[in-house]
Amino acid sequence: MGGNHVTFPSQLVIVSILSNYLIWFLATASGFTVELIRRDSPKYPFYNANQTPKEQLNALSPKVHPSTAQSEVRRYEYQHLLKLSMGSPSIDIYGIVDTGSDLIWTQCVPCVGCYEQIYPLFDPSKSSTYSGISCESKQCHLLKRVTCSSENICKYAYGYVDGSLTQGVLAKETIAMTSTSGEKVSLDIVFGCGHNDTGTFNDHEMGIIGLGGWTLSFISQMASTFGGKKFSHCFSPFGTDPNITSKMSFGNGSEVFGDGVVSTPLISKNNVPWYFVTLRGISVGDKYLHYNLSGTVSVGNVLLDSGTPPMYLPQDFHDRLVAEVKQQIPLEPISEYLPRLCYISENNLDGPILTVHFEGADVLLMPIHTFPAKNGISCFEVYPRDSSVDGSIIYGNYAQSNFLIGYDMEKMTISFKPTDCTK
Ligand SMILES: *[C@@H]1O[C@H](CO)[C@@H](O)[C@H](O)[C@H]1NC(C)=O
Ligand SMILES: *[C@@H]1O[C@H](CO)[C@@H](O)[C@H](O)[C@H]1NC(C)=O
Ligand SMILES: *[C@@H]1O[C@H](CO)[C@@H](O)[C@H](O)[C@H]1NC(C)=O
Ligand SMILES: *[C@@H]1O[C@H](CO)[C@@H](O)[C@H](O)[C@H]1NC(C)=O
Repeated sequence: MGGNHVTFPSQLVIVSILSNYLIWFLATASGFTVELIRRDSPKYPFYNANQTPKEQLNALSPKVHPSTAQSEVRRYEYQHLLKLSMGSPSIDIYGIVDTGSDLIWTQCVPCVGCYEQIYPLFDPSKSSTYSGISCESKQCHLLKRVTCSSENICKYAYGYVDGSLTQGVLAKETIAMTSTSGEKVSLDIVFGCGHNDTGTFNDHEMGIIGLGGWTLSFISQMASTFGGKKFSHCFSPFGTDPNITSKMSFGNGSEVFGDGVVSTPLISKNNVPWYFVTLRGISVGDKYLHYNLSGTVSVGNVLLDSGTPPMYLPQDFHDRLVAEVKQQIPLEPISEYLPRLCYISENNLDGPILTVHFEGADVLLMPIHTFPAKNGISCFEVYPRDSSVDGSIIYGNYAQSNFLIGYDMEKMTISFKPTDCTK
């Protein structure tokens, strides 16, 4: 879901509490000898060039991270919804996890123009911790389209490139999360109380939780309380029962490490709040396809977007990839869908493994990532896109599923760990 001036929907994240624990125990119980040997590696979970081995050993003690803030995430159709308990007394908000925008907002009473939602609306008059943000506040000035109400409260309009729009008042509220140790952790956040919201939302989506890099995003707002600008998620694949949830982790302890983890540099750009990485090429089975046949690849050519389901590639690379994939599948594609590659298959297709060669990190995509089955048909979920657009590759949420993915804005890395996110 792109924010103002954002081109593509972006979205959300899931991490399993269980996998978090497992990772943690791996690091404390078994992984640490190996990791100590490699303590000079920037991939080392608590890499710090100034620490002695003794200090690093101490850093592995669970006492350093007594707990990590977490919240529940579920896939509903094409988006991932993060649960936030908001207000006093609290109600649960399920918002789209969107790495492509910054504002956090939910539909609020009184709703002069809201889309249908199955869960109760947030009612500011019923919460003792709710307060409006004044027009003079610096948060109000972070938004482009603001006006002032007669009570001197900041009124905003925030649009997305797909035409979706939320209008309401900027407010402050307390949200609560549960940490890995079971205690409640709370945080005051600035959010949009949407009183007139329109767009491409379904009735399970109660708003959007912006996770981009700028000041009003959830990631920026939680960083000082939860111990750092970093988070991790584990999206369940398309078609997963929405009752199956996983956990998204925030701040200290959300780092992704252990067996099978690969990391690539995170690139940020000045004029957009997005997260970029660099792609060198993609292999189909053993066949390597270089991203740019006529030259070099530009650093940060991939936008990681949780809110866009498929992958988008520049036309030329897209065409070469599709041709190779087609050649390696010994079935006839459904002719009505061509040039899209679609096959009849009840479950996920027995297609080739794709290896995505990010800078320093090879990520293996299985047919569940590339050919998700819908109603007995599996189509290759990779589309062409105008290559003149900066960061013209979009790495969407199908490819992100079944990986524990860590965003670390302190080390400036993105890490991938193959994980069954439904467990
Ligand atoms: C809600 O927003 C839409 C789109 O901007 C606008 O056309 C409509 O008049 C608004 N409704 C109310 C009741 O303000
Ligand atoms: C986060 O963890 C680091 C050690 O890894 C520690 O120095 C820091 O104080 C922690 N921050 C918070 C807010 O817990
Ligand atoms: C999810 O859980 C709800 C309530 O427990 C139940 O009514 C619903 O049928 C479940 N959905 C699926 C797809 O299993
Ligand atoms: C490919 O490399 C050429 C020459 O370096 C460059 O002009 C072009 O923009 C590159 N194309 C892409 C898609 O990166």
